[in-house]
Amino acid sequence: LKSAGAAGAGLALTGCLGGGDSETITIGSDIPYRPFEYETTDGELTGFDVDIAQAVFTDQLGYEHEFVQTSFDTIIPSLNNGNFRVIMSAMTINDERDEEVDFSDPYFTAYQTIVVREDSNITSQEDMAGVRVGVQKGTTGAAAAQSLQEELGGDLEINEYDQIPDAFSALLNNQVDAVINDNTVSAEFVNGEGEGQVRFVEGEGAASEAGQEAPPYLTLTVENYGIAFREDDDELLEEVNGALATIKDNGTYDEIYSEYFAG
Ligand code: ARG
Repeated sequence: LKSAGAAGAGLALTGCLGGGDSETITIGSDIPYRPFEYETTDGELTGFDVDIAQAVFTDQLGYEHEFVQTSFDTIIPSLNNGNFRVIMSAMTINDERDEEVDFSDPYFTAYQTIVVREDSNITSQEDMAGVRVGVQKGTTGAAAAQSLQEELGGDLEINEYDQIPDAFSALLNNQVDAVINDNTVSAEFVNGEGEGQVRFVEGEGAASEAGQEAPPYLTLTVENYGIAFREDDDELLEEVNGALATIKDNGTYDEIYSEYFAG
């Protein structure tokens, strides 16, 4: 793993087949964002995105590939400055980003959700008035918090963190009262490190409004993840869309999915 910033120091490279002289595709990603990209206790890079990258770039397309740690807040300019070839970072496809990059076909659906401390009296979106909320800087979670702030007539304090574990720590330490973030990443914290100390705010929301099988908690948005490319990288984008279709057809995608999202 290469590092585009101090945060990446010490992360180990995995998922790159040695030998051969095929081209290496460098992948910008903000790590950790468990279960999409994170280190195991042995210091190995793993996760849903990491396995999909192996399947798409290396197993299907025959490239070598390498993850490059980069801050999420600056990940798009970093791509466009040529620091790496593509972004794979649980990145939501949206119109604003689509003006600066091209996205692959969607490969994962996610929802913004609210996590609070177990003993919190916040049980609905309305209860968020006057609350301090933690988000990761530059994310759609931060954007969802801003929309909520507007809905509440400004009565919401937003604290931005460089990485999501910092927002979760702030929640445990009483520095914020809620964290707005992607559902499966928050679920990993609710059922893992934060178990017994934090919970989702429940209720119906964007997912059920969109007619989707809703997760058992309040959803503020419905989003899709895509791999991002520079706007002149059409050929690689087409190859990747083809490979994504293949791994969805041949069972590889489902196998990887069930490894990280079983039950
Ligand atoms: N899906 C959200 C977004 O695109 C959050 C992504 C954060 N990813 C990460 N690897 N830290 O804004």
